[in-house]
Amino acid sequence: MKEQLEKIRQEALDALSKASDTNELDALRVRFLGKKGELTGVLKSMGKLSAEERPVMGQAANNVRAAIEEKLEEAKTALKAKALEAKLEAEAIDVTIPGDPVQLGHRHPMNKALDEAKDLFISMGFRVLDGPEVELADYNFTRLNIAENHPSRDRSDTFYITDDEKVLLRTQTSPMQIRAMDEIKKPPIRILAPGRVYRKDEVDATHSPMFHQIEGLVIDKGVTMADLKGTLETLIKAMYGEDSVIRFRPHHFPFTEPSCEVDVQCFKCRGAGCPTCKGEGWIELLGAGMVHPKVLENCDIDPEIYSGFAFGIGLERMAMRRFKISDMRMIFENDIRFLSQF
Ligand code: PHE
Repeated sequence: MKEQLEKIRQEALDALSKASDTNELDALRVRFLGKKGELTGVLKSMGKLSAEERPVMGQAANNVRAAIEEKLEEAKTALKAKALEAKLEAEAIDVTIPGDPVQLGHRHPMNKALDEAKDLFISMGFRVLDGPEVELADYNFTRLNIAENHPSRDRSDTFYITDDEKVLLRTQTSPMQIRAMDEIKKPPIRILAPGRVYRKDEVDATHSPMFHQIEGLVIDKGVTMADLKGTLETLIKAMYGEDSVIRFRPHHFPFTEPSCEVDVQCFKCRGAGCPTCKGEGWIELLGAGMVHPKVLENCDIDPEIYSGFAFGIGLERMAMRRFKISDMRMIFENDIRFLSQF
């Protein structure tokens, strides 16, 4: 019986040290220590022993059981540690490998030009206003003195949001004139309102169905066309250099009287005519004029007391001239190779 116990001990310890997972350990535990296990089998046959032999064998059997149990625990701990190590190995990150470089963006030339303009106007006492791109026809057209049958209201030019044509995507930033007067009410008013506008234009080198304008509005006592000229000249010289030449050309807008367009002499040919200015020698920059008395009345401002001027600058064009960009599509493509040149 002694040899039998010794054999069980040897076999069990051997098997346990070779076990490679916890299921196997469990099976070994049942095989050696379970109710029908090998050690139990030996203990059951102890009845046949003499009274002197029985305690000796009992002691020996308990020793074997303790040894097997100890080894079992040991093997379990070792397997757990091994599993953890394997897991760590599989999930290891090598922090010394260089990462994917992050592509940095670049400030858009249009934002640069806008910031320059904003800084200048803020220094002249203007407030910068923000307004909705989905606008009421009332603000975009009617209160700006634009007649019901005016061609700019046509469905082929304007994106309407509602079928009754009361809500639209603003076609200009000029409705911000109305919003500014409604909000501030009492002159003096000096505001700048940059933002997106929408028109049903095909995309080409100088057109896009979405573009940007900067609206300006000044209302006070005794404001004249001379103030308009001085303000715009200051802007253009700051943008394009002290030596830039501009001209005021008579024009018509329903919401200004008199109205004008302002051109800057072509930066490429200095007025001689070239492809950039389409042979004209001049490049159109903005529309402007003295605020129409009817528009003031529409906003409860007395045109007998107050007068004012307004202007609307095409921001893309301004940035294109400022940075000598020849195709408007480049402005919207956002190709980082293009943007990072400015
Ligand atoms: N809103 C006009 C346009 O889009 C520009 C403009 C603004 C003209 C303000 C006069 C006064 O063409």
